[in-house]
Amino acid sequence: MQVKFKLNAEMVACDIAGHETLLAVLRDKLGVMEVKYGCGEGACGACVVLVDDTPTASCITLCASVEDSELMTVKAPDPLGVWSLLQERFAVHEAAQCGFCSPGLLASCFALVQCGEKLTRQQIREALTGHLCRCTGYQHIVDAVEEVMELWPVMS
Ligand code: FES
Ligand code: FES
Repeated sequence: MQVKFKLNAEMVACDIAGHETLLAVLRDKLGVMEVKYGCGEGACGACVVLVDDTPTASCITLCASVEDSELMTVKAPDPLGVWSLLQERFAVHEAAQCGFCSPGLLASCFALVQCGEKLTRQQIREALTGHLCRCTGYQHIVDAVEEVMELWPVMS
């Protein structure tokens, strides 16, 4: 079967088998290597992409289910500068160390910031519970997201 969707603002069409996951198609057929394979069972968040603005674990999502959807990864066009602000603050706070968890985390953080709501540190932690990070202890990640939430309404 063929599936069509928008990926980082570009239309893509790809021949897939019905059982193929979105993660497998992104990495193995479309070369989207910024989306990472961690656990393969929806538990670590490394493979999260935005599907119609919703953070989605691509390893447990059938590719066929994203027909006509709009997908974004950390390499999406960034007209408002949200992705770049997040990456800059991650760098400043050392919230990306080995960086393996970062593309998925950044996708979820992008969705949080886009909501425009200022969350408490506890709410940020809860919103990111599906993401495992072996390096940072999470404190740095929460610091970065909190700062972006402070800065973002000022910059938009
Ligand atoms: S690889 Fe998808 S959640 Fe871990
Ligand atoms: S920075 Fe290494 S796993 Fe998160």
